[in-house]
Amino acid sequence: MKKNVILSLMLAGAMHMAAVSITSPDGNLVLDVNVDAAGTPVYSLDYKGKPVVTESRLGIRADETAFTDGFRITGTDTLTVDRSWEPVWGEYSSVRDHFRELAVHLEAENPRRAMTLRFRLFDDGLGFRYELPVQNGPNYLTVKEELTEFNYPADHTLFCIPGDYDTDEYLWTETSFSGLPEAMKKYARHSEAQRVDGLTVQTPLLLKTADGVYINAHEAALAGYPAMLLDVDPQNFSMKSHLVPDRLGVAAYLQMPFNTPWRTLIVSDDARDILASQLVLNLNEPCAIENTSWIKPMKFVGVWWEMFTGNVKTWAYSDDPLAKPGVTDYSALAPNGRHPANTENVMRYIDFAADNGIDGVLVEGWNEGWEDWASYRKNRQFLFDKPYPDFDLPRLRDYAKEKGVKLIMHHETAANAADYELQLDRAFRFMKDNNYDAVKTGYVGAIIPRSEHHTSQWMVDHARHVIERAAEYEIMVDSHEAPRPTGLCRTYPNWLAQESARGGEFESMGGNPPSHTCILPFTRLKGGPMDYTPGLFETRMSYYGEGKDSQAGTTLARQLALYLTMPSPIQMACDLPENYLRFPDAFQFIKDVPVDWSDSRYLEAEPNRYITVARRDKHSDDWYVGAITDDNARTAEIDLGFLPRGGEYVATIYEDAPDAHWKDNPQAYRIRTVKVKPGDKLRQPLAPGGGAAIRIQKVK
Ligand code: NOJ
Ligand code: CA
Repeated sequence: MKKNVILSLMLAGAMHMAAVSITSPDGNLVLDVNVDAAGTPVYSLDYKGKPVVTESRLGIRADETAFTDGFRITGTDTLTVDRSWEPVWGEYSSVRDHFRELAVHLEAENPRRAMTLRFRLFDDGLGFRYELPVQNGPNYLTVKEELTEFNYPADHTLFCIPGDYDTDEYLWTETSFSGLPEAMKKYARHSEAQRVDGLTVQTPLLLKTADGVYINAHEAALAGYPAMLLDVDPQNFSMKSHLVPDRLGVAAYLQMPFNTPWRTLIVSDDARDILASQLVLNLNEPCAIENTSWIKPMKFVGVWWEMFTGNVKTWAYSDDPLAKPGVTDYSALAPNGRHPANTENVMRYIDFAADNGIDGVLVEGWNEGWEDWASYRKNRQFLFDKPYPDFDLPRLRDYAKEKGVKLIMHHETAANAADYELQLDRAFRFMKDNNYDAVKTGYVGAIIPRSEHHTSQWMVDHARHVIERAAEYEIMVDSHEAPRPTGLCRTYPNWLAQESARGGEFESMGGNPPSHTCILPFTRLKGGPMDYTPGLFETRMSYYGEGKDSQAGTTLARQLALYLTMPSPIQMACDLPENYLRFPDAFQFIKDVPVDWSDSRYLEAEPNRYITVARRDKHSDDWYVGAITDDNARTAEIDLGFLPRGGEYVATIYEDAPDAHWKDNPQAYRIRTVKVKPGDKLRQPLAPGGGAAIRIQKVK
């Protein structure tokens, strides 16, 4: 490979060098980099001899200067790296990081500019970033635009959600480049969020070519920079970077030297490889936390679903909308009597967790400020060290401790991120003083400062600030409505999970179609784990806020499979204790299923259709299998070739009953045990919208 580069260097002309190219370690991917006639850097990518990305331009435009043209290649460096690292938690106990790297150094005159493009080519895809060294001139940039293009050769299938500066809580669309204009019409503008009208989509998104090549496009290590959306040209099958701006239209304020996040393309002709890919994590920096012994994967229940289903219970203690946190004497307010974050109810959850080996109890609505929720679009504040009068924190703290259960704090900021930063140290100190070591954060509403969006540079910085401060206090974080993940959980493994997609809560708002969880692992999950909140056993409920019914898009057995197909080191058992007590044999699976794995094997996969995965518990020899389908019935073919030879095993299968259907018979399930051997092939029927969950143990 080196030879090719040297050859290209020797062939370089006087004005600018000829194309430089590298291949992936297995030779399947070929990357070419050059500058075009205008001196604009361009790249292209081939896979198994066919173009994935045709010639596409690169560049950054700022108020001060433009890194877009007039460049010549002044030198290149190549490097081959093959190493592995051990994540604190995850799908594998060891991750191989194997790539060829090409750094292309560029210079331009009048004015003088220098830039390096760094490419890493793995067997499963490409990552590249812009590196802006200290310049011979002003060293700050007011970035308006990044010109990164992804030109595709044909009218591929797209799996995407609409461009939005503030939310990713959408259902996915399966369309094509040419079908996108029509497909985007169905998305209504989210009430507070700033949707980008027109043909803009979010990453991670998935493309599929007519001959069966899958491409996941995203970014890695998003820090100090805004998130990237993609503007789509449906006629020319191309996409161009669209950075989320602040309300002045500025994407990023940078001080050089600066490296942008990596732009990533995971590529394979086997859909299972997209799910197995660790490329995004590999492009993130190693763990920045020296002692990680306090980071503990966990399962939890919570005072939470009560507020979604039934639409009677409230986060607020009182119905007085004039109550002001820190000003009002809450003990003088009339309680509304519909406030489940009360001492007695929380004790009930603690008992339930303790009885069932569940590690944690989340309590939402425990602190002052929720009365103002109705006006959350204006000024708003929560206090993170002021429990409501009916939430006896010292008593609950001691009770949880006695029962061996951890309380999980909730910080709903109502998107007042500025105020949260001011309270942060006090809030984290308060948590530690009261024996909490995990927090769920939330940013519902329009961001304060109002100049910002949920995924603009300022909020990306805010998220990292919170995670770094949390690490100092040894606090684990599960963030909702934060910038979508880009693998930073490798660097900060206390960032256990994020929501950053349409989660299980939408089952009470019309439902998530079964296909939804068949696409998320191909898209959203490539950035990191999701707090999807699986484990819904009562699938018919009152529609949140509307008094009519909502039918979840799932069978009960499928909810168990989600613990495998939506891997996360923090998993909720979202339903009410009383619903678990109605189905104790099925609940056994939630009690048993681990949240941390030493190995994972994707057995079957097709985006939006089905996923079958096997995982080995990190702390035992048990294997678990999860299989899900869309709203079509399906037979999963489970090849037990992953089981170590020489043993006999028993499989406990939690499956849809033969007449189960997500729509009209979701709670029909069966549990059976069968003896299995390595190499056996199980044919596992799945109902429409259904799934199966299997625990496999060695017979002693
Ligand atoms: C939205 C979050 O996604 C949900 O989990 C939470 O309960 C509410 N905000 C209230 O904070
Ligand atoms: Ca949410």
